[in-house]
Amino acid sequence: MKISQNNYLGVFDSGVGGLTILSSLKSMLPQEQFLYVSDDANAPYGIKSKDEITERCFEVVDFLISKRCKLIVVACNTASTNVIEVLRAKYNIPFIGIEPAIKSASLKSKTKVIGVLATRGTLSSRLFAQTSDNFTQNIRVIEQIGDGLVESIEKGELANSKLVDLLNSYVKPMLYQNIDVLVLGCTHYSFLIPLLKAILPKNIQILDSADAVAKQTFRILKKEHLLSSKDLGETVKYFSTATNSTLLNFIPENMKVVNF
Ligand code: DGL
Repeated sequence: MKISQNNYLGVFDSGVGGLTILSSLKSMLPQEQFLYVSDDANAPYGIKSKDEITERCFEVVDFLISKRCKLIVVACNTASTNVIEVLRAKYNIPFIGIEPAIKSASLKSKTKVIGVLATRGTLSSRLFAQTSDNFTQNIRVIEQIGDGLVESIEKGELANSKLVDLLNSYVKPMLYQNIDVLVLGCTHYSFLIPLLKAILPKNIQILDSADAVAKQTFRILKKEHLLSSKDLGETVKYFSTATNSTLLNFIPENMKVVNF
């Protein structure tokens, strides 16, 4: 298949989390057109096995490639940390992945203790362990699995008392350990930034990877001569694998349900 500059950029996640990445992509790449897939019939990915996540990624990527995407952003830490290498080996278009921002957190931390809130799938991945070994030699990393958070966010519950209690139970032990940076290692969790700001002391920095992913996407498009050559106006086409998708609570109503 010939890849053309004016083809779509594909972006996908297990649900609405990738919208936080899409938003940075749209601001940094206003000339580009996007296809967004929410695989919410199969969310959450974070509790699935590596084989199951791989199978989901193949299905979604095959769909995006059938729509002639020129590059795919895996807007999901769980899928990226488990499957990005397999995707790059299998398909011949560029892939941008996302990982918890622990390198940047290590550089910012003064207490030399950082917290990472992420899914079970991300924290147990080989890639996460490698990055952690490479960049946190003099740093203590407090890892916390965010069980239940993705499910609440998918339901559009971003601040109810159950969620506040759950989030407190995850971040308070990190505060006792003296973290000064909290890394959000799941794209869904960026929706919780307003709530986290209310819960956490002011000196705690909250880091996600959305802008870094958008910058890297720009760099790769430029390097591969794939930046769009015409401004077709901002367009995003949204697809969901679920019939009762909550994606519609987060986006304008131009979503299609797809089965694959
Ligand atoms: N938003 C995803 C991530 O970054 C997926 C979370 C999930 O489906 O468990 O990890």
